[in-house]
Amino acid sequence: MTDQWRAVDHYLCDHLIENDPVLLGALARSDAAGLPAINVAPNQGKLLHLYARMIAAGRILEIGTLGGYSAIWLARALRAGGRLVTLELDPKHADVARANLDAAGLHDRAEVRVGPALASLDAMIAAGEAPFDFIFIDADKRLIPEYYERALTLARSGTLIVVDNVVRGGAVIDADTADPSVEGVRRFMAIVRTDRRVTATAVQTVGIKGYDGFALLIVA
Ligand code: SAH
Ligand code: DHB
Ligand code: MG
Repeated sequence: MTDQWRAVDHYLCDHLIENDPVLLGALARSDAAGLPAINVAPNQGKLLHLYARMIAAGRILEIGTLGGYSAIWLARALRAGGRLVTLELDPKHADVARANLDAAGLHDRAEVRVGPALASLDAMIAAGEAPFDFIFIDADKRLIPEYYERALTLARSGTLIVVDNVVRGGAVIDADTADPSVEGVRRFMAIVRTDRRVTATAVQTVGIKGYDGFALLIVA
């Protein structure tokens, strides 16, 4: 089945996603620097871009930068004068992301902050950072619930939150799996289940990244 998922994804991307030298260059630079190819797929990046445009996002927070591929999609959706902050643990990843954001002409509106995202988030909260319109959670899956709590603190009523990788090939419902990344997703789901602070859904996805899914939440 995965061959077909892949082929259909290529078909969809071929028809609907512009062949953008900046985005292709970002992936090439990430690959050359040895970063893992775990960025969102082009059609997923564009989905994030469209979500951000639907809500006319002026302030976007990303948790988990990698080489800045999704950050480029998101920053390009910012309304005039908007800002994207993206958090990354690995200084090498952050360097590649900065180079990619520079090459995309986005250095004036996109900022990469290096360090463990929990510490960066706590520092932002302590500093009284203004609320974000859109928050994309895509870092260490073991810590999704902790990122989620901080995201809520950095949100306002109406903020859109997207959480990547909540299905993991179906492992999320595999009772025999004690993978800490899967446990992170389950802890998150258990919180959201009764969480009156948000309205949430989640959708399974297949394609060039295999079988996974994302959660979509709006803050009450
Ligand atoms: N959003 C990116 C992909 C992110 S991959 C894209 O789609 O293009 C996950 C990233 O989270 C990796 O770069 C990894 O180094 C980073 N990461 C892992 N643990 C982290 C932590 N504790 N704090 C911040 N970033 C972390
Ligand atoms: C991994 C991380 C991701 O954010 C993703 O979308 C796919 C895979 C990973 O760490 O393997
Ligand atoms: Mg991801």
